[in-house]
Amino acid sequence: MHIGVPREVVPGETRVAVTPNEVRSLADDGHQVVVEHSAGERAGHADSEYVAAGAALATRADVFAADIILHVHLPGAGRITSAPDPFHDLRMTRPSAVLIGLANPLSHPEPVRQLAEHGVSAFSLDLLPRITRAQAMDVLSSQSSVVGYRAAVLGAERLNKMLPMMTTAAGTIAPARVLVLGAGVAGLQAIATARRMGAVVHAYDIRAAAREQVESVGGVFVELPLDTSSAEGDNGYAQAQQEEFYARQREVLGKEVAAADIVVATAQVPGKPAPVLISEDMVRAMRPGSVVVDAAAAQGGNCALSVPDEAIEVSGVWVIAPTNLAAGAAAHASRLFGRNITNFTRHLIGNDGPQLTSEDPIIRDTLLTRDGRIVHTRLRSLLGLDSLDTAGAPHVAPAERN
Ligand code: NAI
Repeated sequence: MHIGVPREVVPGETRVAVTPNEVRSLADDGHQVVVEHSAGERAGHADSEYVAAGAALATRADVFAADIILHVHLPGAGRITSAPDPFHDLRMTRPSAVLIGLANPLSHPEPVRQLAEHGVSAFSLDLLPRITRAQAMDVLSSQSSVVGYRAAVLGAERLNKMLPMMTTAAGTIAPARVLVLGAGVAGLQAIATARRMGAVVHAYDIRAAAREQVESVGGVFVELPLDTSSAEGDNGYAQAQQEEFYARQREVLGKEVAAADIVVATAQVPGKPAPVLISEDMVRAMRPGSVVVDAAAAQGGNCALSVPDEAIEVSGVWVIAPTNLAAGAAAHASRLFGRNITNFTRHLIGNDGPQLTSEDPIIRDTLLTRDGRIVHTRLRSLLGLDSLDTAGAPHVAPAERN
């Protein structure tokens, strides 16, 4: 098959969907890979590397004429609508084309209508079920690891202190204190990274299972007097809570936040805006020079003061809200993403070409559009195309959960 890899056009995006290593494995499978000129440049891969790996360099139009097009962001995806015409590329695709990438459709369902109108079959890998078989394709996990690492590093860089304890002739410096909110994949990586830099790390998550995971990476789990009996859904994800719960959470978190030098906030609920866990008063109660890194900024943010992609100073405290932390480590983020999307593509193609009607949850749960229709059940509900389904989170078959 012809597989196209375009240069990402979303402002600030530095990643590429497929690196030369993966081009080689796709070429070994017998596919012809066409890569847009300078597609991998910002991730550290020159065009010559792609050619050496077996790809042909092509114009954007040629890339979009391929059978399968591998993206970081699907055309028009998610919050990213700043391009003059985010769907321009779709006009170059064939209706039989298969598009694979990220669309964040549960939070931003409207753009998916355009994908359907163009007739293409589009897969959004952020809907991949968290099952053992899908782990090697799990872009959310691989990119969240990068996000957590980058968030901790950014916090350390901005803080007016060092992180490790240091004993010098001029006296002893106590280690910095880091608080991580939300201990999913990104949060755990933030804990591990801050620990490696020598900080004392505390962390909180509303899922009970998170305690053990926090401790396993060297964090201290923070006990809060909250009723979290409905915090976790059957699918293993956090469930959205009532505003009263979050108000109470902010209240009991106040002391922890005030004691922290760096707060890394990663709390998210799939398909919903991120919960606001840090109010303006809580920021003002932190010591001057402290830092809040809001790693949930792309989903609205965990801090009430966050301004997307800006660093603001309030009472001497920095609030940083980057919306694409993974782009800050484009080489490694692309390498992991490329491996994930290539594994997915191979799974989809199998021996007989793309299995668009398969009931395999890896395929069924990620397929957004086919034959001019939105076919994803939850998305149809969100768009009012079917009876209402408010569950919001990706489906995970209990028997297959990891
Ligand atoms: P996420 O990015 O959706 O959310 C981040 C974290 O925020 C979660 O741990 C969530 O519990 C937490 N959170 C939500 N509301 C909160 C609040 N009010 N206060 C504090 N924390 C709050 O999560 P992610 O990283 O995608 O992980 C979600 C689940 O998926 C976890 O159970 C994780 O262990 C599981 N997982 C399973 C994988 C598999 O292959 N089976 C792979 C990766 C994750």
